[in-house]
Amino acid sequence: MFGKLSDYSLDGQTLTLHYEKQTAYLQVLTADIINVFVPLYTEEHRSKAIEDNKELPVSVSLEKSASYIMLTTPSISCRIYDNFKLDFYDKDGTLLCADYRGNRIPRFQLQDSFIEFIKQEGHDVDMAGSMDYPVQSVKVLDQDDCIYGLGDKTGVLNKRYYEYENWNSDIPDPHEDCFKSLYKSIPFFIILKEKGLYGIFYDNTFKSYFNFGKENNGYYSFGSDNGNLDYYFIGGSSMPDIVSNYTYLTGRMPLPQKWTLGYHQSRWGYDSEETFRSLAENMAKYRIPCDALHFDIDYMEHYKVFTWNKERFDDPALLLSDLKKQGIKAVTIIDPGVKVEKDYPMYEEGIANDYFAKTPDQSVYVNAVWPGDAVYPDFGNPSVRDWWGNHLSFYVNLGVSGIWNDMNEPASFNGPLPDDVIFTDEDRPSTHKEMHNVYGHNMAKATYEGWKRLTGKRPFVITRACYSGSQKYTTAWTGDNQSLWTHLRMAIPQQCNLGLSGMAFVGTDIGGFGADTTPELLIRWVQVGCFSPLFRNHCAKGNMNQEPWLFGDEVIAIYRKYVELRYSLLPYFYDLCRVCTQTGLPVIRPLVLHYEHDEAVRNLNDEFLVGEQLLVAPVVEQGAVKRMVYLPEGIWYDYWTHKEYQGKEYYLVDAPLDTCPIFVKAGSILPKAPAQMYVGELDNPALILEIYPGEGSYVHYQDNGEDFAYEDGAYNEYCFTKNAAGSLETTMLHEGYEKYPEIILNYV
Ligand code: GLC
Repeated sequence: MFGKLSDYSLDGQTLTLHYEKQTAYLQVLTADIINVFVPLYTEEHRSKAIEDNKELPVSVSLEKSASYIMLTTPSISCRIYDNFKLDFYDKDGTLLCADYRGNRIPRFQLQDSFIEFIKQEGHDVDMAGSMDYPVQSVKVLDQDDCIYGLGDKTGVLNKRYYEYENWNSDIPDPHEDCFKSLYKSIPFFIILKEKGLYGIFYDNTFKSYFNFGKENNGYYSFGSDNGNLDYYFIGGSSMPDIVSNYTYLTGRMPLPQKWTLGYHQSRWGYDSEETFRSLAENMAKYRIPCDALHFDIDYMEHYKVFTWNKERFDDPALLLSDLKKQGIKAVTIIDPGVKVEKDYPMYEEGIANDYFAKTPDQSVYVNAVWPGDAVYPDFGNPSVRDWWGNHLSFYVNLGVSGIWNDMNEPASFNGPLPDDVIFTDEDRPSTHKEMHNVYGHNMAKATYEGWKRLTGKRPFVITRACYSGSQKYTTAWTGDNQSLWTHLRMAIPQQCNLGLSGMAFVGTDIGGFGADTTPELLIRWVQVGCFSPLFRNHCAKGNMNQEPWLFGDEVIAIYRKYVELRYSLLPYFYDLCRVCTQTGLPVIRPLVLHYEHDEAVRNLNDEFLVGEQLLVAPVVEQGAVKRMVYLPEGIWYDYWTHKEYQGKEYYLVDAPLDTCPIFVKAGSILPKAPAQMYVGELDNPALILEIYPGEGSYVHYQDNGEDFAYEDGAYNEYCFTKNAAGSLETTMLHEGYEKYPEIILNYV
C-alpha cells in the first residue's frame, strides 16, 4: 500500500502523485488514453510496444474534493484516492473501472495437505499458487462484463472466468483450452460492460498473469513477476474506438504486398528442388491459384541459418526464378538459433562482435535447437538487429520474397533458458527474465527493417512469437496446431482475439500442423482459412501430406472453389488491410466488434465477420451438413444463392461439404477481381463491383501493391455510392495511379 496522498502536481498533461511510500504518475496521452505509471523497476517506461511520443495536446483539468482528486480529459476522468486507488469514469459520469478495495477471496482454495495428495497423481495444482505478484492491479468486475483480446490464447472468445499467463511458450502438445500461454504476449484486453467499455494495455514484458474472474467473480487482476506497474486505461465510445486507440498507441500493420494475400503452400519436409518444382507443376495441373511456396528448415545445410543445401538444391537462384515465372514466390524460414560451429560465418561473426546472449559470467550462452548446440542473437541490441538485417541480403540475392521467423520465443531443446541469461535492452544490459517476451518482437523488427533497407519493398515477415506492437513489423501464425476439429473451432476465437489485440494479419496452419488431417477436415479448414489474411496450408514432417490433390477429385474441386473465392475477393482483402493501416480494425472480426449491444454475439465463437460486409458461419463440426446461424441486425443476403434474411434471428441453413455459409450485409458494394492463378497474372485487370440491394457506399483503394510509392501519393481511392434509386456514383477521393481499364457492375 502506498499510504496517504501527501502531495501532487500537474505539469502539462502529467500528474505527479506523491504518496507516503511511493511516487506515481498519471499521464494523459489523448482524450481517451491515460497512462498509469509506478516506477517500481525503472524511472522511465522503456516500452517495446510504443515507439514514439504519443501525447497529443488535450485539455486536462484537476479538481480536489474531500476524499479524492479528479483528473479530467474531454472524454474520461479518473478519481485518485489514498493508497493509489483509481476509479475511471466516462464523460457522463458512469463508473467504468474501479480499483478493487476488498479482501481477495478465492472462490476455491486448497489446504496444503490436499495439495500434496493431488500432486501424487501428477496433477498440476495451480489454484494453490500465489495470487499476489510483486507488481499488480486488481479491479472490480461487474456481473455482465465480458473480456476480449489478450492475443493468441486458447479457448473461447470471451475470456471472462479464465486465467492466462504471458510467457512466450513453444509447447508441442495439442493446444488445449486450459493452456495458460502460447507463443505470443499481448497484454491488452477489452472489458465490455452492460453500459460502457474500456481497454487496458499492461505494458510489462516480465512473466505476467491475468485472472479474469476465476479467482473471484467480483474482481479481476493483472500482475507480473517484476517491472513497473505501467498500464494504459483506454476509453472510447465503441469497441472499434478502443481497438483504434490501442493501435494508435502500439502501431498498426503496414500495407502488405498484395501477393502476400494470395494462397501459400507449405510443409515441413519439402526438402529438395524436385519437390518444389513438382509442387508448382501440381498447382498448375490442378488449377489451384498459388502465390507462395514456403521453404521450411530442410532447405538449409544442417539447419544453419543463412545457408542453402547444395546437395538437394542444385541452383536455388534458378529454382526461385523459375518458380517466379509461374507467379510463385519463395518464403524461407529463419530461426534465431545459430549453430555452434567453427568457421560458420554467422557463428564466427557473432562471436567476434559479441552479438550472442551471455551467461552472468560473460561466456556465450549455449542451448540447443534444430542444428544442435546453438547460440542466441541478442536482438535487443540495435547493432545485432542491423547485423542480422544486413545478412538478409543472402536471401534477397537468391530471389527470396518473404521471411518466416520461427522458434523465436525463443525455443530451446535443452531446458528453458535461465532467467539470468544476459540479453540487451537497447542501451543497457538486461536479462532473459525481462527480454524473453520481446525476443520475437525484436527479431521481427530486425527482419522488417533489414528487408526494407535491402529491397525497398514492403517486407513480408511472419512470426510465431511476438509482443504488443509487433504488428508494425510482422504478420503471425498461430503455431503448431493439430489436425483436430477442436483446433479448427479454436482458430476462430483465436484469430478474432489476435485481431482485437492489434495483430490483424494472422492465420492458422490450414489442415492442422500436427497429426493427420482428413479430407473433410481439410475442406472445412480451407473454408475458414480462405478468410484468414495469412492463407497457408502447412503441416509437420511425419504426418500425412496435405496438398489438396492427394485427396481425390471432390476435395480438389472444393478446395479450388475456396482458393478461387479468395482470389476473387482479393480487392476486398486489400481494402481491409488499407483500412487496418488507418484505423487498426482487423480483417477478421468477431461479431461483437460491430454489434456490441447485441447480447447474442458476446459469446459467439463459431461465426466471424470479414470487414463489415461479410459474415462467415463455417461448419466446424465433423459430419455436419447444416448449421445454426445467427445474423445480427439488418438485412443479409446469402452469398451463394442471394436469398434474403432478416437479422437478429437464428436460421438453420444448409451447408453440404462444398458450402461454407457466407452472408453479405444489405447495401454492400463488394470489390472483386477476375480469376487469376496468382496476383499480377493479369496486368491491371478490371474491377468488378458486386452490388447488393440497399443503400450504401464503399471506399476502394488501388496501388501497385509492392513498394512505398503510395506514401508519395501513387495510389487511387474511389468512393462508390449507391443512391436510393440504385444507381452508382463514383467519386475519386485521390488520383495518383493508373486507373482500372474497366469497372464492371454486377447487381445482385
Ligand atoms: C516449428 C514450427 C513449424 C515448423 C517446424 C520446423 O514447429 O512451428 O511451423 O514447420 O518448427 O521448422
